[in-house]
Amino acid sequence: MAVQEDQFKKVLSHAKEYGFVFQSSEIYDGLSAVYDYAQHGVELKKNIRDYWWKAMVQLHENIVGVDAAILMHPTTWKASGHVDAFNDPLIDNKDSKKRYRADVLVEDYCAKIEGKINKEVTKAAKRFGDSFDKDQFMATNPRVLGYQDKIKSILGRLAKSLENEDLADVKALIEELGIADPMTGSKNWTEVKQFNLMFGTQIGASAENSTQVYLRPETAQGIFVNFLNVQKTGRMKIPFGIAQTGKAFRNEIVARQFIFRMREFEQMEMQFFIKPGTQKEWYEHWKKTRLAWHLSLGMGEENYRFHDHEKLAHYADAAADIEFQFPFGFKELEGIHSRTDFDLSQHEQFSGKKLQYFDPQENKSYVPYVVETSIGLDRMFLAVFSNSLIEEQLENGSTRTVLKLPPVLAPYKVAILPLVKKDGLPEIAKEIVADLKWDFNTFYDEKDAVGKRYRRQDAIGTPFCVTVDHQTLEDQTVTLRHRDSMDQERIAISDLRQIIGNLVSMRMWLKKCES
Ligand code: GAP
Repeated sequence: MAVQEDQFKKVLSHAKEYGFVFQSSEIYDGLSAVYDYAQHGVELKKNIRDYWWKAMVQLHENIVGVDAAILMHPTTWKASGHVDAFNDPLIDNKDSKKRYRADVLVEDYCAKIEGKINKEVTKAAKRFGDSFDKDQFMATNPRVLGYQDKIKSILGRLAKSLENEDLADVKALIEELGIADPMTGSKNWTEVKQFNLMFGTQIGASAENSTQVYLRPETAQGIFVNFLNVQKTGRMKIPFGIAQTGKAFRNEIVARQFIFRMREFEQMEMQFFIKPGTQKEWYEHWKKTRLAWHLSLGMGEENYRFHDHEKLAHYADAAADIEFQFPFGFKELEGIHSRTDFDLSQHEQFSGKKLQYFDPQENKSYVPYVVETSIGLDRMFLAVFSNSLIEEQLENGSTRTVLKLPPVLAPYKVAILPLVKKDGLPEIAKEIVADLKWDFNTFYDEKDAVGKRYRRQDAIGTPFCVTVDHQTLEDQTVTLRHRDSMDQERIAISDLRQIIGNLVSMRMWLKKCES
């Protein structure tokens, strides 16, 4: 646990120190759970978005994109169920006056029990050495089994109480478990109440004429209300998908874990419209396809797992999360939801307009079913960033901090460094920049010793450094240094574009989704 917290602290400070993420309006002490992307962060974020967009839209001839507005007609949110049902159960501590999500207090309690299981595993692994079989230990050790049963029974009761809207039982559970305010230790709790997560605002010039609108809490509804427009103008045939990336807003109460849970964040969503009755098959298809996209980035198969939902949202007949091992444990990164015809039917009912598809093969019209894939761009950023941040012990006894980003996502693909600031080397280096910048984001740096410059590039994840030295003047070759291995090779300037291009091309990386 302490190691994980330590790693998370390093992630936070590295993100700030190296220009990836800043707290919003920091000079005014920040705004809780709102963040700004800095000069390097904005590049990484854009590359992740592009990687998703290419995989989903460019590589699927039956998926097209839209960019719907953040503000939508307020009835949208009545129809979608968000006005009535997009709530979190909250509890206040009467002594500290702090507010918490009741379900998160219970989940955190279970995470502590999970920590005890991990301790047992670590102890046993030490005791048994090489012959240790973790799976067998987890399945047979009485203490571990006891802890697992406890977690299952607590989470089972929580899920049931929330499903039945039995908020009194959620409070009773908190009291029975002896859960205290994490800040003060007080157990003096209020009742649990539901709290809507949507941000409301007004449209209109005067108080009398204003209309209550909401900042969208998900991008999906902008796709649903445009379903027929896109289908007709694009002459789309079912099955087909509509993809969108964009901001979403939620008044999250648990404002912590950095960009994991934000009040303003970005989603990358795709709604796949299908024939009713085929949803199981497409749900499995998209689970597999999305996992393959994640694995293509090479961040370790062991860091992903599926979590099938037992408690389903009001719109779904099946749902699963792709969870990722963040520095604070396995948590939801992406959701795949079989949303039935819930949304389109609701919009038909509330708008009075037909949202149906005429199926020429079936010779009839129907409201399509939908399978959705929904991933938070900021969460994906955190997954990539935290997984890539490594502290390495080098053979000479020193340590180096290196951000081993998948090269396809790195903010800069190559840094061009003249060995010294004289003898015509900067001029050649700048010529190389002037050529390569048409293909890649490049970085020019001539300040400090070259070793120091390499480390600066390691820290922002640049996969290649090119050093121009005196030999370059004679034979038009440069040193190409590889970030991860620190290997250096001598190559011709004229070969740079192709060598770098091969290793950072989206084509090469996205092809891995197919295998
Ligand atoms: N349209 C379905 C939908 O919005 P969701 O499970 O609520 O489903 C989908 O959200 C994804 O959006 C999550 O898996 C997560 O990656 C991201 N997400 C949700 N709330 C977030 C928040 N407050 N901050 C950052 N990302 C968030």
